[in-house]
Amino acid sequence: MEIGVHHGRLFILLALLTRDDEYALAVDLFDMQDRNVDRSGAGDIAVFRANLARYAPAAQVQILQGDSVELASSIIDDHRGMRYISVDGGHLRSTTASDLRVAEALAVKGAIVSLDDIYRVDWSGVTAGLALYFKSGGRLVPFCLSPNKVHLTTSPEWARTYASRLRSMFNTNRSIEFFDFDDVLSIDEEDRWTCDNLSGIGAPRHQSVEAAELANAAPGELEEMSAIPPRDDGSAYRRCAPLASANSSGA
Ligand SMILES: C[S@@+](CC[C@H](N)C(=O)[O-])C[C@H]1O[C@@H](n2cnc3c(N)ncnc32)[C@H](O)[C@@H]1O
Repeated sequence: MEIGVHHGRLFILLALLTRDDEYALAVDLFDMQDRNVDRSGAGDIAVFRANLARYAPAAQVQILQGDSVELASSIIDDHRGMRYISVDGGHLRSTTASDLRVAEALAVKGAIVSLDDIYRVDWSGVTAGLALYFKSGGRLVPFCLSPNKVHLTTSPEWARTYASRLRSMFNTNRSIEFFDFDDVLSIDEEDRWTCDNLSGIGAPRHQSVEAAELANAAPGELEEMSAIPPRDDGSAYRRCAPLASANSSGA
């Protein structure tokens, strides 16, 4: 599930990772941009649908258009049992805190919740929103900061499990203090993992011609799906072969 989908750059990957009995839920204001008070990107339902049709036509997807704060209760009632949730919608303090509460309510044990734009001066409402969420009793536990995102899960035990896996994948042991938590893994832009480390992680169910096309898309094509420009050296869209090897081993 993602709150704040824009043109679907991350959401499409999530949709491709769903299992046969799962669906991916997309929540965005989309064509209600007059409600986008902090102007955190401008979703567009037509562009999103076109990207979905091109890159993940077989995926089970549900789309909710509206303000995630107003939709919070109905989302919680109708969509429990999520194992991955990306929070990247409205960037105000109150919106972020509400979206995190929704994520907590929907998360299965061990689910991962990724919050975008943490510690950004230009989107300070996100960090303030996380503070508000913790202050008002939020129970998600952070385990890793990666560039621009903080990743949380449902218990300290799961946090230790994920952090340990990431430490070995990235071969790093850098930890930081983060809010009331000590020892949160910090991965920065210099850290690299190798493709071999993905063995054992399931390949996307819907991986097929469309996913291969996505993997092989030129940076320019992917760029159309996001306002975020690629790095100058093109490294934002590194290619590697983990999906192909995971697929061929039937993972
Ligand atoms: C930064 S963009 C999301 C980028 C996207 N996650 C990606 O991977 O490309 C933020 C999105 O949040 C949406 N948004 C802003 N405020 C919202 C709200 N209150 N409820 C739902 N969506 C919202 C915007 O329409 C925009 O599409």
